[in-house]
Amino acid sequence: MQNVVKIKKNLYYLGGNDRRIALFESAFPVPRGVSYNSYLLVDRKTVLFDTADIAVSEHFFENLEYALGRRKLDYVVVHHMEPDHSASFVRLMEKYPKVTVVTTQKTKAMLENYFSFRGNVLVVKEGEELSVGKNTLKFVCAPMVHWPEVMFTYIPESGTLFSADAFGTFGALGGSIYADEVHFERDFLDDARRYYFNIVGKYGVQVQNVLKKAAGLGIKLICPLHGPVWRKNLAWYLGKYDTWSKYLPEEKGVVVFYSSVYGHTQNAAEILAGAIAKSGVANVKVYDVSVTHISELLSEAFRYSHVVFATTTYNNGIFISMENFLHDLSAHAYQNRKYALVENGSWAPQAGGYMQNIVREWKNMEQVGETVTVLSAVNREALEKLNALGKELADSVKNS
Ligand code: FEO
Repeated sequence: MQNVVKIKKNLYYLGGNDRRIALFESAFPVPRGVSYNSYLLVDRKTVLFDTADIAVSEHFFENLEYALGRRKLDYVVVHHMEPDHSASFVRLMEKYPKVTVVTTQKTKAMLENYFSFRGNVLVVKEGEELSVGKNTLKFVCAPMVHWPEVMFTYIPESGTLFSADAFGTFGALGGSIYADEVHFERDFLDDARRYYFNIVGKYGVQVQNVLKKAAGLGIKLICPLHGPVWRKNLAWYLGKYDTWSKYLPEEKGVVVFYSSVYGHTQNAAEILAGAIAKSGVANVKVYDVSVTHISELLSEAFRYSHVVFATTTYNNGIFISMENFLHDLSAHAYQNRKYALVENGSWAPQAGGYMQNIVREWKNMEQVGETVTVLSAVNREALEKLNALGKELADSVKNS
């Protein structure tokens, strides 16, 4: 059954939801599924904006056929070649062999590599325009948001931006495709943040560049490739992207990450969290990095102004899950935070120094207090140091 949504006169939503997928990109858990969005503009020419993942291909083609009615398909604009949006491309070419592909030179090369495609391509560049009737397609390059070939399309007549992966989120769509008709802040924001930092978090500079271009466009409608369509409160969501891509904290508060083999480092982390709260900062989160998925840890690290890493020494290094997490933060250009360290060790506590070596490589990081050392279990001396560090962290949050 087709499930086409008319967004406005002559613009249709054709996407589909995958609620069976376990790991998006084989990496990120999506317990609430994910949507693959595609759009059709019906003007003097008909224009399809991207295809869809193979998981929703049948549904996507039913929608496309229904929305086209008796019209033929003139153009398909390919904004992004990642297979969650391009996997249905070959079948699209089989069903609509006369369609003209509109895309960048980089994407043309990828179409050849992925599909050995040598068909009819109209190569466009930054700022070029294509009139399709009452609507003009204006092309905006957005390299590394999320791959190098990524392009947006802007329609000045209606203020519509087709934003590829940008402004997308994990989470399948329910009864409405519109952000203003769901509880976005309550139900989607955590997934939107997790999506942003894990998918494009490394490329803050490139996101800032494209936000600057977007600021001059007069956008009234954002049509992303995942998640809800934005037609209200755009400034709020654009503001989130601005904060995230500048690597600024979204909230004042402390997130405590620990790894613990037998519970003693956990105890130290919880004493510290309690001391921060007792000193007047209630916005404290605690995560066991061996239990919570790393994509969520990454997102929470970027969310808060202050971060604590507490770990046991293991094989004369950092405990496995903490070391893996710290390297993931490095890979996503983690920066610009206040931090504190806690190490534990029964005969050679050295994890603090090893963590310091990793954090030292991050930009604009400032340590609060001194590294607290726990010898096997929290004793009176360590307790006093943890309480003192908690107060220092709380004061630092209040003054930030
Ligand atoms: Fe939704 Fe980068 O693909």
